[in-house]
Amino acid sequence: MHRIAVIPGDGTGPEVIREGLKVLEAASKKYNFRYEAKIFPFGGEYYLETKKVLTDEDIQELKKYDAIYLGAIGHPEVKPGVLERGILLKLRFDLDQYINLRPVKLYNSEYCPLKDKSPQDIDFVVVRENTEGLYKGIGEFQNKGSKDEVAIQVSYNTRRGVERCIRYAFEYCRRRNQKKKLTLCGKTNVLTYAWDLWERVFYEVAKEYPDIQTDYAHVDATCMWMVKNPEWFDVIVTDNMFGDIITDLAAIIQGGMGIAAGGNINPEGVSMFEPIGGSAPKYTGKNVINPLAAICALSMLLENLGEPDASKAVESAVIKVVKTKIKSLAAGKMGYSTSEIGDLVAENL
Ligand code: IPM
Ligand code: MN
Repeated sequence: MHRIAVIPGDGTGPEVIREGLKVLEAASKKYNFRYEAKIFPFGGEYYLETKKVLTDEDIQELKKYDAIYLGAIGHPEVKPGVLERGILLKLRFDLDQYINLRPVKLYNSEYCPLKDKSPQDIDFVVVRENTEGLYKGIGEFQNKGSKDEVAIQVSYNTRRGVERCIRYAFEYCRRRNQKKKLTLCGKTNVLTYAWDLWERVFYEVAKEYPDIQTDYAHVDATCMWMVKNPEWFDVIVTDNMFGDIITDLAAIIQGGMGIAAGGNINPEGVSMFEPIGGSAPKYTGKNVINPLAAICALSMLLENLGEPDASKAVESAVIKVVKTKIKSLAAGKMGYSTSEIGDLVAENL
């Protein structure tokens, strides 16, 4: 029995999660597993009504589940940062989901904005550190409001935090068993404290993985190569801020936010899976948003629950729908409604 905590959240979150749950139900019948999905109300509406974001008691409750399935967090009437820090980042930090795993896979050449790139060229994974760096929130204002104001924002990197992330990336690269190449994406030429540590730990841990080829690219160059030669990448490991930025670039070369999913992983605890596109207020309630990213997140969740066959079947069904049915991955241009796409995936399982 798998116990899944579901947080549909804001905007189009509930619409895409509904389709994910439809596919989950179909997968459980086909692959013979049982699950219980408990819906939690956290998000912008809940905050506006109760003034609560996510309490420590809520975190304790969520810890009792096997996985979390998240729709989207973000509300036009709530000041930016309140829900992001109060819900999304609190979940990542308090549940110690220290890996943000972002598979980047192009399923159909037609959806790629890059000239002459095909699915075999765009197939890599970004391992983003998910609990430290600039996201830690360390910093201060000096002389706030005056002409001499200074705003300081610190990147916080612990040896332990860096090492567990790098180790996960090496293990993942080995398990993935493709090009067996791990690229460290950093900025050793300028950020000489943080990236000195990352680089030292990277080559130290690499000694334990002689079967994995190591590579290094500065973050700016990584952006360039991702557009010019995405086929060079297999697994990329990077810090929280750089990972945030390069995974949006990566999402667009795989076809956009309509298909991009991610996992917030605590290998020893509760992990959380989400479409990375956000709450898309302008499409809310119209049944036009693409639920495939949420369904891809479900596929990752199933893998994490120890249902690899169901996970692969969901991914294959998504590929089938992408190759044979849907006209575009963009909201409103798919040729099908949100719920019809969910039906198609469920039927193709
Ligand atoms: C992401 C998002 C979040 C982040 C925001 C919503 C806080 O952009 O998951 O990449 O910056 O990590
Ligand atoms: Mn982001």
